Formats: sequence, C-alpha cells, structure tokens
Amino acid sequence: MIERLLPPGVTSSEAFDDAAPAPLFPAEAALMEGRRARRRRQFATARACARRCLAALGRAPAPLLPGPGGAPQWPAGVVGSITHCDGYRAAVAAPADTVAALGIDAEPAGPLPPGVLGLITSEPERAHLRALASADPDTPWERVFFSAKEAVYKAWYPATGTWLGFRDATLALSPAGTFTATLHLPSPPVDPVYEGRWLATETLVITAVARG
Ligand SMILES: CC(C)(COP(=O)(O)OP(=O)(O)OC[C@H]1O[C@@H](n2cnc3c(N)ncnc32)[C@H](O)[C@@H]1OP(=O)(O)O)[C@@H](O)C(=O)NCCC(=O)NCCS
Repeated sequence: MIERLLPPGVTSSEAFDDAAPAPLFPAEAALMEGRRARRRRQFATARACARRCLAALGRAPAPLLPGPGGAPQWPAGVVGSITHCDGYRAAVAAPADTVAALGIDAEPAGPLPPGVLGLITSEPERAHLRALASADPDTPWERVFFSAKEAVYKAWYPATGTWLGFRDATLALSPAGTFTATLHLPSPPVDPVYEGRWLATETLVITAVARG
C-alpha cells in the first residue's frame, strides 16, 4: 500500500504480520535484549523491511540502530524511515543524493484516545477537522492528522536533530489524499513547508512525507 504514497525513486517494503522477521545483527539483538516480545517482533520485521529497501537500492544488509532522538541510522548515502503499529510494519529508503528527507507513519484506524486531539491541534486545525468530518464522516480524520504530523517529524528530525512539537506546525489535509504542514518556527533550518500523502483503509492509516 505504502508505495502509492511515494514518488519514483523511493523504495519501500511492508508487512502485515511478523511471519518473516530479519535475522538481527549482534548490535540489534543486544538492543532488543530484555524488551517485550511484541517490541522485538515489530523491530525484527521492520528490519526485514528495511533490508529489502537497502537491497533494492543495491546496498548490502546493515544494522539499523537508533541514533540520538531514536531516529534510525541508515548507511551513509541513504535516507529512510520506519514505522510499525498493530498489523503493519514498513520501511522506506532512497539515495540521499536524490531524496533529502523521508518520513512515514502508520496508525490503527479509528478515533484518537480521549484528550489527545487537544494536545496536537490548534483551534483552527480543529475547525478544519470538523469541516472534513462533516463532509466525509467515514474517514478517521483525527487519526490521519496525528499520523501526518508524526510523518513530518520523522522527516524533520534526521535533517535537523531537533525537537518539533505538534503545535509547531499547522497541518491541512486534503480529501484527495495529500497534506501540507507549515512550520511556524522563528528561523527554521530547512524549508518550513512539508508536503505529504495519506491513505486510510478500514483498519489502517498510513502517511508519508518525501522531500526531494
Ligand atoms: C518518534 C515518533 C514520531 C515515533 O512515532 P510512533 O507512532 O510512536 O512509532 P512508529 O512505530 O510509527 O515509529 C517508530 C520508528 O520511528 C523511528 N523514529 C524514532 N524516533 C525518530 C526520530 N526522532 N526521527 C525519525 N524517526 C524516528 C524509528 O525507526 C522507530 O522504529 P525503531 O525504534 O524500530 O527503529 C513519536 O513517538 C514522537 O515522539 N512524536 C512526537 C513528535 C512529533 O510527532 N511532533 C510532530 C511535529 S509536527
């Protein structure tokens, strides 16, 4: 599914269960020691997805360990992103000389937990979501919104190494499956407008940001 959200030149791989996890490199296995079984399974399946992306780019398998802030450290010359949620794991990657930043996020479809919306939106954004819901009540707009902001963060962080709060961006979703996030920071170190795409099925919401 996720390839529908990506421009040409970005490789992707996804899995809907943990039937084919990657054999872990020793440093990855050490990282997972003592972690809960669910986390270990998601981690290993996401690594299988990431290794398939690397293979599609002609790159050798490599460990994907978290760097500062938790962002996965891709081999030199590669940018990429990883997501996992119940029933879905995915990775995307591209050569760093053609793609500047990638961010993907997956979420279970359905409403956000109580109290979350107020933390991640401004009043104009909530009005935007009410208008979308009134025109199309079947799409889980709040979940798409949350996921899109997380995808923006995953594209933002590896390029800047700095925190970005949910209220630091104003997000607009289009029913046509696109979104635009505009950061309102005093002097952003990168282009403050992120364009992305989203899709929603009965069970999943998936979002992606790819910046050339
Ligand atoms: C980091 C964050 C985005 C992860 O999202 P999530 O829905 O909890 O989890 P997902 O399963 O989708 O993604 C987890 C993967 O994200 C990646 N990731 C973690 N931190 C990251 C970061 N700082 N930058 C980029 N990718 C990151 C990792 O690959 C991780 O998987 P791994 O640990 O197996 O390698 C989220 O926990 C977070 O901190 N959000 C707050 C910041 C934010 O979203 N701001 C919005 C700005 S508009």
